[in-house]
Amino acid sequence: MTNQIHFLLIFSLLLFSTATSSFIGVNFGRVADNLPPPSSVANFLTSQTTLTSVKLFDCDPQILQAFANTNISLTVNIPNANIIPLTDPSAAQSWVSSNILPYHPQTIIRYIAVGNEVHFSGDKTLIANTVKAMESIHQALLTSKITDIKVTTPHSLAILPPLMSPSSGHFQKGYDHVFFGPLLEFHRKTKSPFMVNPYPYFGFNASMIEFAIFKKNDGVLDKATGLKYYNMFDYLMDGVYSAMKRLGYDDVDIAVGETGWPSAGDPATEPAATLDNAVSYNGNLVKHLKSGKGTPLMPNRTFDTYIFALFNENLKESVSERNYGLFRPDFSPVYDVGVLKSPSQAGGPTTAPSPTESGGKWCVAKPDATDDKLQGNLDYVCSLGIDCKPIQDGGPCFDPNTVRSHASYAMNAYYHINGQQDSDCFFDGTGVVTSSDPSMISTLTCI
Ligand SMILES: *[C@@H]1O[C@H](CO)[C@@H](O)[C@H](O)[C@H]1NC(C)=O
Ligand SMILES: *[C@@H]1O[C@H](CO)[C@@H](O)[C@H](O)[C@H]1NC(C)=O
Ligand SMILES: *[C@@H]1O[C@H](CO)[C@@H](O)[C@H](O)[C@H]1NC(C)=O
Repeated sequence: MTNQIHFLLIFSLLLFSTATSSFIGVNFGRVADNLPPPSSVANFLTSQTTLTSVKLFDCDPQILQAFANTNISLTVNIPNANIIPLTDPSAAQSWVSSNILPYHPQTIIRYIAVGNEVHFSGDKTLIANTVKAMESIHQALLTSKITDIKVTTPHSLAILPPLMSPSSGHFQKGYDHVFFGPLLEFHRKTKSPFMVNPYPYFGFNASMIEFAIFKKNDGVLDKATGLKYYNMFDYLMDGVYSAMKRLGYDDVDIAVGETGWPSAGDPATEPAATLDNAVSYNGNLVKHLKSGKGTPLMPNRTFDTYIFALFNENLKESVSERNYGLFRPDFSPVYDVGVLKSPSQAGGPTTAPSPTESGGKWCVAKPDATDDKLQGNLDYVCSLGIDCKPIQDGGPCFDPNTVRSHASYAMNAYYHINGQQDSDCFFDGTGVVTSSDPSMISTLTCI
């Protein structure tokens, strides 16, 4: 087999190995006065993207109608202000009759989100009534013989006190047994997911931006478990998992209601809101999710995930808030995170160009790099969800079985998948870009 063909084969594996039945969707926020009509949005998503689910912040009949017969599922939202009235079973029944029955099942509705971040609202009456309203809606669905719509409610990560480590995660005192216990019991009973909105963009440590945006970093050790974290998404998700486990609900599924990163911001006050950071966060997040790898505390678990957001929303307050979109209102991509059907339609920088564009450049370990450093590179790249099976025991690139050879394979995969910028072969000074065929380098036989 020629080098070139071998190379392409490995790349197909890297790019197309998707081991998950969970979906990647997008939030359709509409705090804007220049958005296209719902029917155009539905057409666009169906014809141009691979996104299979859309989360709404309302239950707008026009949108439900627009997504009929599209095979794109929806999450609809009941505003916080309607929660208390809907604790009444007959009100819940009439809500389902007028908001769901006319559209179901031509429009696939995956989840009904009862309220949004009710805990974050701090409104104790609202919080105290949320599970009751969820139960009423769930019962109303069953009465209408609907069993394929799950009921949930999304939470901000303020449900946890600041995390000292993932394994120390616990719910805010005072809410753990009175709110989260009954809520998780509801989720277990109805097989619906606990929905959270993790945003590494909020609250990342400025000296650890790489950790927040899935770039190469030294990792953060959880001393209690001995597990090392290479990205903040996993760190936060495992914090949530630990809190659930503490109450005895580690079997309940988790879904991600919102996560994202703004592609622009006020340079003075929002310096981390840049296109590069947004491309890195959302692009690597999508790869990580598609790998089906899970997190250190939840190996192989997958999460239905909604990226925030579909469009830039021009009526939001701050510059960064107006720039979370993957698309502009005219459907041009702000950048592609790997959700466009054809890469040629992508506008901004792409994260995974074809290897045939490489012009024969490889990233390999520097001769003087220590095995310790190289092991770190290897752990980091494989933790991203980039397919490392070829260098595992039994894989075609396992031999020669040395850290140096395995690390070079992984570093090169990372370099290519990120678009072959020299900075993606830096690895703290342990990587070097070469244009000579790496099969000529004695320790490497499998690139
Ligand atoms: C609809 O979506 C499901 C899951 O996303 C997929 O398995 C199925 O093939 C799709 N059907 C059509 C007609 O596209
Ligand atoms: C940020 O990270 C640095 C390096 O690990 C650490 O010294 C510092 O205490 C952290 N700051 C905060 C606020 O956690
Ligand atoms: C995760 O999946 C891998 C590969 O399929 C398997 O070897 C491993 O045992 C699984 N781990 C758990 C905890 O299920």
